[in-house]
Amino acid sequence: MPDSYLIKGGKPLKGEVVLSGAKNVALKTIIAALMFKGNVVLKNIPRINDVLDLIELIKSLGAKAEFKEKNTLVINGDGLKSNRVDLINGSKIRVSFMLFAPLLNRFGECFVPNPGGCRIGARPIDRIINGLVALGIKVDYDTETGYYHAKIINKPKGKYRFEKPSHTGTELLMMIGLMTDDKVEIDNIANEPEIDDLILYLSSAGAKISEENNKVIISKSIELKQKEAFTIMSDRNELVTYATLAVASGGDIAIGPIDESLITSFLEIMKETGAGVENISNYKYRFFYQGEIKSVDIETSPHPGFMTDWQPSWAILMLMANGSSVIHERVFENRFSYVEELKKLGAKIDFVDVAVENPGIFYHFNHEKDKNYQQTIKIQGKSELHNAILNIADLRAGAALACAALLATGESVVNGASILERGYEDFVGKVKKLGGEIKKV
Ligand code: EPU
Repeated sequence: MPDSYLIKGGKPLKGEVVLSGAKNVALKTIIAALMFKGNVVLKNIPRINDVLDLIELIKSLGAKAEFKEKNTLVINGDGLKSNRVDLINGSKIRVSFMLFAPLLNRFGECFVPNPGGCRIGARPIDRIINGLVALGIKVDYDTETGYYHAKIINKPKGKYRFEKPSHTGTELLMMIGLMTDDKVEIDNIANEPEIDDLILYLSSAGAKISEENNKVIISKSIELKQKEAFTIMSDRNELVTYATLAVASGGDIAIGPIDESLITSFLEIMKETGAGVENISNYKYRFFYQGEIKSVDIETSPHPGFMTDWQPSWAILMLMANGSSVIHERVFENRFSYVEELKKLGAKIDFVDVAVENPGIFYHFNHEKDKNYQQTIKIQGKSELHNAILNIADLRAGAALACAALLATGESVVNGASILERGYEDFVGKVKKLGGEIKKV
């Protein structure tokens, strides 16, 4: 199977991009569908590798799942017959651990391997497991097999407060809460809009979920049953990838559909660079080059801040800016796998030390006192990028590397296309439509 891109860069990219559905909603709605009775119809589901792998995984557990139209997926979890997630299939996608919810719901007990997914840090699920335990679920971990064994002793109930917010953690504990005969309260939750979309979906099928003061409260619900098809939100990460590419390449791209509230912090900071940002119609934005790009420093943080998934794309834009800029990553450790690769193209980027007063609180990962972290980079702008052979190590870094190759002169090879395609639907088709020279080899 071809797994590389051959990219001839150096052209301004122009045209229109129709956004696909959000990966980080698609995966959770598919998993939660296994808690519903009968058919569940999901629209705007992107045909990306993570979704295709998850479909295979739930089928191996006995569920049915089939695309009816290009992006309409019909799922039926009534026939779930296994409570053990396969180690190999499960290790392909990080969200496989979210299968705790439907499997406990159906069988009262399940076996789930330690999650896989992108290598953007150690990514433990300790806070999430603590949450399961706090809600009354017995969880044992077998270090020899790498499996968690979870068992419901009493129906979930009670309160759990995340020490630091977790996106998928909030979603999983919310799904666990659906099994309560009483009430479940999760405090200090993550506030990403993708979580709100999941709540909308569950509520439309009968779940009783309310949000207040950074808390989500789940009350005893009736059996979940879908009344009408649910359309998931657009992928705001995809928007950021193409918006930064538009400006960095000296181009002009209209992107939609997108709700402004999903990208407010991105729009604000994009305007600070002097880039053209125009709301051309309801749910459609135009991003274009209109002269020198100013350097703007960023610090990543959970919603409503500048999202961690956007920073590799930001680095690409800053390579084209005037002067130098700094990116400080607070959410994940090891999210700079693209730095050494970009240097092969001639980019001037260095890791720098920035003193942080209280790193244990400042960083969202489990910060260890004596460990050496590299959380900040300094990018020298106005880079002359030339062709190189690049290797993708994680999804968002992959998109950044492919975009950098589109800015570089000459022909580059980007290896690891399947990693980028875990999260980007029809990347080659969309780039070609913008005038980019890219092919899969
Ligand atoms: N963390 C722990 N222990 C836990 C849970 C989280 O140490 O029990 C750490 C993580 O390692 C990380 C930080 O806490 O350093 C925040 O992690 P969080 O749990 O919020 O992230 P996630 O749920 O694993 C989701 C998205 C990510 C996105 C983040 C932040 C999915 C499948 N993944 O990850 O998306 O960057 O939230 O919004 O929803 C991507 O799409 O490329 C991607 C990585």
